[in-house]
Amino acid sequence: MKTKCLYINTIGCQMNVYDSEQIAKILTPLGYKMNSSIEFADLIIVNTCAIREKAEQKVFSFLGRIAGLKRKKPGLIIGVGGCVAQQEGERILERMPHVDLIFGTHAICRLPYLIQKIEAERCSIVDVEMSEIIEEFESVIESPLDRTDPKATSFVTIMRGCDNFCTYCVVPHVRGRETSRLPESIVKEVKGLVKSGVREVTLLGQNVNSYGKKEKLTSFPQLLALVNEIDGLFRIRFTTSHPKDLSDDLISAFNDLDKLCNHIHLPVQSGSNRILKRMNRKYTRELYLEKIEKLRNNCPGIAITSDIIVGFPGETIVDFEETLDLIKQVEFDGIFAFKYSDRPNAPAARFTDKITEQENKERLQILLDLQEYFTTKKNSELVGSNELILVEGLSKKKVDSDTQRKCQYIQWSGRTATNKVVNFIQLEDTIPRDKILKGKIVNVKIEKAYSHSLWGKPVQMEATLFASEGEQSYAA
Ligand code: SAH
Ligand code: SF4
Ligand code: F3S
Repeated sequence: MKTKCLYINTIGCQMNVYDSEQIAKILTPLGYKMNSSIEFADLIIVNTCAIREKAEQKVFSFLGRIAGLKRKKPGLIIGVGGCVAQQEGERILERMPHVDLIFGTHAICRLPYLIQKIEAERCSIVDVEMSEIIEEFESVIESPLDRTDPKATSFVTIMRGCDNFCTYCVVPHVRGRETSRLPESIVKEVKGLVKSGVREVTLLGQNVNSYGKKEKLTSFPQLLALVNEIDGLFRIRFTTSHPKDLSDDLISAFNDLDKLCNHIHLPVQSGSNRILKRMNRKYTRELYLEKIEKLRNNCPGIAITSDIIVGFPGETIVDFEETLDLIKQVEFDGIFAFKYSDRPNAPAARFTDKITEQENKERLQILLDLQEYFTTKKNSELVGSNELILVEGLSKKKVDSDTQRKCQYIQWSGRTATNKVVNFIQLEDTIPRDKILKGKIVNVKIEKAYSHSLWGKPVQMEATLFASEGEQSYAA
């Protein structure tokens, strides 16, 4: 079969990254192979995000930019998938007539049929049908993508959709009802990934705490325990945990499971009870702080990160100050902060007391400046300590940011268990130059802290972890 080039542009969250990988896998039998050069593409797929207006705009500007490619190569197929596809459906075709296919978030399993139909008939198709069944393509999901450059880390979606209906959020409308995958299938997938070289998995769901509840499967902590048993896997992460459902069992899992990383992403969204209520978050500031205290008491050193929305409709200065106060009280390791954005299907879009763009911008800046102080403080506390880093790949930066001198060494990048990015140079006196460190755990002495990363010097590769791989270790 003739090999055809597939180019995927992924916008949005980790679930979209995961879905793009499933798209690549499911299209392999049709002869499509991933290629990073758009100009060679026979099929371009953009996997879209509708979470904020800006993300949606990104989709249309990308589609506008590639219209010329279609004129040059009429056989080119352009497909739009993901959350904007689900939300807008046919309307995308009206705005962008050069698009051939719109496929929703539940249509990935039907892609081979849809693409073959377009190849044969040169028609345009819209498939945004949603279904509750997700087992249709488990056999595809369970086997890893054949890559020339295997990855050390991978996402694994364990549940789809969301039943929480926070008033600002589009996700329940574009991803459908919450549905959990079978634990056996998840374990099989992780084992396959480990076989392909993956050493760390991040289990994904909009609210992992409710994993399996509806379907009466194993609980989320039980699922973590099953994944923890998998030989050759070094680390487990998960996201996202909803504060209202964070259980004592999950808090205990941080102590009980040796592979579970000491980090939790626990989005608070606001520090004001009035706003939390209007957001339909179903917890109070006090309950959130209680959970933080429990986490810190039970798992010393745990890193805590969060998401915050500023300028939610009706947010007064007092509400906003309560959010700032919560940030000071918790001292998060990091946060993602967003300006509130109206989403067509979300109830908050119809709330009348909107905050002006200028005010919103100012609040976001104040909040980011405050958090920057805590992020740098947390990072600085690590200077002088030794941290175990799982190396993810070569660092993008080829230049030592302090001296600006071109570095002649190989520079690697990885993360601590607490999810902090650490860059380091492979020094000949500790680790031979020809040693490929991707997917290895390296003990690094942290020397410098920046606001978004750390810089260190490798001390030693972890003997114990290497022993299981039959490799030698390198002592300092
Ligand atoms: N399920 C996750 C969130 C997924 S969306 C949870 O409940 O925590 C990721 C983040 O995007 C949210 O935490 C929220 O902070 C932000 N977000 C969602 N909708 C938004 C909107 N309309 N405007 C601005 N930010 C939004
Ligand atoms: Fe959106 Fe709320 Fe569901 Fe998260 S829990 S995806 S914020 S509706
Ligand atoms: Fe993710 Fe964006 Fe959809 S955040 S779930 S890709 S709306």
